[in-house]
Amino acid sequence: MKEQLEKMAARARDEIQAVDSEAALQNVKTAFLGKKGEMTAIMKGMGKLSAEERPVIGALANTVKEGLEVALKDRFDQLRQQALQHRLASEKVDMTLPGRTMFKGGKHPITLVMEELVDIFSSLGFGVSEGPEIEEDFYNFEALNIPKDHPARDMQDTFYIGDDVVLRTHTSPVQIRTMLQHAPPVRVIAPGTVYRRDSDLTHSPMFHQIEGFLVDKKVTFGDLKGVLTAFVEQFFGSGTGVRFRPSFFPFTEPSAEVDIACVICGGKGCRVCSHTGWLEILGSGMIDPEVFKAVKYDTEKFSGFAFGMGLERIAMLKYGVNDLRLFFENDLRFLSQF
Ligand code: PHE
Repeated sequence: MKEQLEKMAARARDEIQAVDSEAALQNVKTAFLGKKGEMTAIMKGMGKLSAEERPVIGALANTVKEGLEVALKDRFDQLRQQALQHRLASEKVDMTLPGRTMFKGGKHPITLVMEELVDIFSSLGFGVSEGPEIEEDFYNFEALNIPKDHPARDMQDTFYIGDDVVLRTHTSPVQIRTMLQHAPPVRVIAPGTVYRRDSDLTHSPMFHQIEGFLVDKKVTFGDLKGVLTAFVEQFFGSGTGVRFRPSFFPFTEPSAEVDIACVICGGKGCRVCSHTGWLEILGSGMIDPEVFKAVKYDTEKFSGFAFGMGLERIAMLKYGVNDLRLFFENDLRFLSQF
């Protein structure tokens, strides 16, 4: 039996060294030391031994078993270490390589202008409201004192979707929607997308406007001037020249267009301002009583003003952009400058 044990031990050691994976090593372990392994099979013969031989063989069997256990453990450690080295080598990262430059996105200049306007008017106490881009004739025209045969409908080349459904030509319909839902006082701005059949250096069929209006008791033209002058100073810089020029809109009376001193020549006169020294930035006026009638506001008790401006236009003036179409071409060389 001694010989048997020693031969088995020698074979086991050979096999332990020969395997090259932990799984294979586990099989070797089971084959020799497992419940149905060779060691157990040999030990079953112990019963046939004499009383003198039994302790000697028993001690030898223990030594052999312990020896194999140590050899197995060492080999397990070795294989695990090898596997780790292999992984480290194959997953190696060269920290000295230059990094890949990530392109950092930014907000579109029109979004930036819109956000700045919302900030400025919020600080003046205005809340933000929105309306649909597909609009009913009633809100876009009728309630704003622009009846069907009114020549002002020609001023705005309208995209019609149906007899009484249009792509809104301005943000003014939000005035109507808001006033129909809220009793005065109201103080609201409404930024959004609008559509007109127009396309050239300074016009796009789709562009953006921001509407503003305020209704309360005893609102005067002085309030309109105060709010719009404060806006110009904050947006274009303090000291920017402002002028209110009489104009006409069906939904305001009296009406005024607001000009600022030319941002290019400072008022001396240049090509950009057609040598007038002034640039038009918005339309405004005191809300016409006809509009109040359409939304059932009491014209004796309340008065208000409204204004509307094109975001692309004021973005062009603020950033010195000379072609409106650049805002919609999505050329990163242009956009990444903002
Ligand atoms: N809705 C007008 C336009 O698109 C602008 C405007 C708004 C004028 C409010 C007066 C009052 O041209």
